Amino acid sequence: MSSATDSIKSQATIFFIFGGTGDLTSRKLVPALYNLFVDGWMPDHFSIVAMGRTGFTDDQFREVLLKDINQFSRSGKPDQGKWEAFAKHVHFQVSDINDSKTYEEQSQRIATFKKEAGIDPNVIYYLAVAPRFFSTIAENISKHKLAVDATKSRIVIEKPFGHDLDSARKLNQLLGSVFSEQQIYRIDHYLGKETVQNILAFRFANSIFEPLWNRNYIDHVQISVTEQLGMGSRGGYYDDAGALRDMIQNHILQLLCLVAMEPPVSFEADKVRNCKVDVLHSMRKFNPEDIKKNAVRGQYSKGWIEGKEVVGYREEQGVNPQSNTETFAAIKFFVDNWRWHGVPFYLRTGKRMHQSSSVITIQFKDVPHMIFPSEAIEGWQQNRLIISIQPEMSVRLQVQAKRPGLDMTLNPVDMIFDYNGTYTGDTPEAYETLLLDTMLGDQTLFMRGDQVEAAWDLLMPILNAWAGKKSLSFPNYSADSWGPETAEALIAQDGFHWFTLPLKNAKK
Ligand code: BG6
Repeated sequence: MSSATDSIKSQATIFFIFGGTGDLTSRKLVPALYNLFVDGWMPDHFSIVAMGRTGFTDDQFREVLLKDINQFSRSGKPDQGKWEAFAKHVHFQVSDINDSKTYEEQSQRIATFKKEAGIDPNVIYYLAVAPRFFSTIAENISKHKLAVDATKSRIVIEKPFGHDLDSARKLNQLLGSVFSEQQIYRIDHYLGKETVQNILAFRFANSIFEPLWNRNYIDHVQISVTEQLGMGSRGGYYDDAGALRDMIQNHILQLLCLVAMEPPVSFEADKVRNCKVDVLHSMRKFNPEDIKKNAVRGQYSKGWIEGKEVVGYREEQGVNPQSNTETFAAIKFFVDNWRWHGVPFYLRTGKRMHQSSSVITIQFKDVPHMIFPSEAIEGWQQNRLIISIQPEMSVRLQVQAKRPGLDMTLNPVDMIFDYNGTYTGDTPEAYETLLLDTMLGDQTLFMRGDQVEAAWDLLMPILNAWAGKKSLSFPNYSADSWGPETAEALIAQDGFHWFTLPLKNAKK
């Protein structure tokens, strides 16, 4: 066992999951906790208490969870013995977040746990509930003195963290009045993805990239996160959010920060997060003219995805039939600092796109002088570093090579680090990493309050401009396309095109 597993063993922990009967709990949280348990990453003493209004007994709730685990766990159907060993730790508390009894019962559970285990546990309050309930829960936790020991109690908050800068500030203030920053774990699940964590390793554990990682060698950067999925049952939430809030404010700007940040002095949470927030502070904030030139929005119409007809956004359940909400956004950003001066960062995200894939492409500058004749370089391509986050998990370095043969013909080839080819075994899910970190008290992969506010601050001019002016062209891309033509034009006007990684099995 590694020292990290030794360390977790001694961290007696109680998880209170508000929203215990919700989708997130069944699809992500409980399967992640179960897989941590199976892999030996849970403390010797732990208890998971799902909170909800439904009148489940512990046994009834465990039955429900077993079905969820069968369906959603990355390791498939559980082994009976392991499941029974895990299920003993799971409880259901019938509760109402407005009722004092809920918090009194939590207090009793903590006391009983402490007595039985003989250890003062870490207590984690996981808010897997809609944001409108955050304040009630936080205030009650405070009122019932359930988080007085800052070293032992933590609160985990799901996104969306605020709806705009103002609401994010208010939420930060509210949480700050109950918890210290060290107790607040703001989740951005992208940061827990294996391939996303690897960006830091790749950049800062190798010496060969850093000399090239700047405006002298990099032409531009693309971050593209596209999804085939439509709304499903989330239309109501999404119509109030849109692509900027749902994906760019958090996941995609975090990816940008990892690519653009300066090397931190150490891997300590705040050292890393300081460097990331510096990137957000260096990004150019747009005025109305910049927005017209650098930001493009789209909304999908109906179409066919893999042989199935799908409705347009405005026909989705829960969506206003005249909705002005963007389901696609592409933005050209600049990071105004010494390293990145003049290097465009093109971000793109959309729903109902041709392919589901998340890819970061770093395109290097062209060779300064071409020695090969034009007939030798027909497929010429500037060097690229392609970090594929999902579904393919790989890093590719695209270089020119001579094609075998008697003539001198060059074509681009990929030097590939492919996770599947290099490592065996399953990759942990993002939530496993993040839940383990909450138990260990490691905030590196969580959003700090100032990061969230800086990201909102950057986007506010665009959000306001788009909300203030209805798009007359919506819907402007059909399902199963690569988004509106204007997004192609945004990058084409600089002489580039969106890079897509051909996938054998695009994720649904
Ligand atoms: C969520 C967004 O945060 O991330 C969803 O709310 C989106 O709209 C999802 O589909 C994408 O996550 P992943 O891990 O499937 O890329």
